[in-house]
Amino acid sequence: MNLDLERIIIDEIEISRRVKELGRDITKEYQEKETLLICILRGAVFFFADLCRAIDIPILMGFVSLSSYKDGTTSSGKVEERQKLMADVKGKHVILVEDIVDTGLTLEGYGANLLSRGALSVKICALLKKPEQKHDIDIAFKGFDIENRFVVGYGLDYAEHYRNLPYIGILKKEIYS
Ligand code: PRP
Repeated sequence: MNLDLERIIIDEIEISRRVKELGRDITKEYQEKETLLICILRGAVFFFADLCRAIDIPILMGFVSLSSYKDGTTSSGKVEERQKLMADVKGKHVILVEDIVDTGLTLEGYGANLLSRGALSVKICALLKKPEQKHDIDIAFKGFDIENRFVVGYGLDYAEHYRNLPYIGILKKEIYS
């Protein structure tokens, strides 16, 4: 385990098992639909790559960078589109793929935005969900509910570090305080 972690909360085996289940759920629900999975960069990158390979129907892939956090551990309260969406949503059933939903700010309004651009439907698939969601978004496909602690690994960062850990763990408080 990385020494900066207090403990691992979800290990590689659990992640892999749950991602496969989510892939099966999406496969069942999206048969015969033109489906576009959008990776919300950067945190979702490993989840997206694994999820796409767990889905057994033809899919399209898109990428967008939305960010509400800067280098700290709390939300800045503003969403920034760092990189515009690389995909045409018109006539597609869209699944937004997120690593974590905390306040829900990052995705609030984005689904409506894609519908106004011609998407036929928009659903959210998030690997992790924290308990104190403040914004009204519905997570159709959810990996794990987690406690309200600062977590890193499997794409999630603190000041751009720890993204490449293959598991998800709680960062020691002394690292960021
Ligand atoms: C993180 C995470 C989600 C968002 C969740 O992204 O990847 O996109 O915050 O928080 P919210 O539900 O309170 O909006 P971040 O802005 O840190 O960018 P990153 O994915 O590039 O790390």
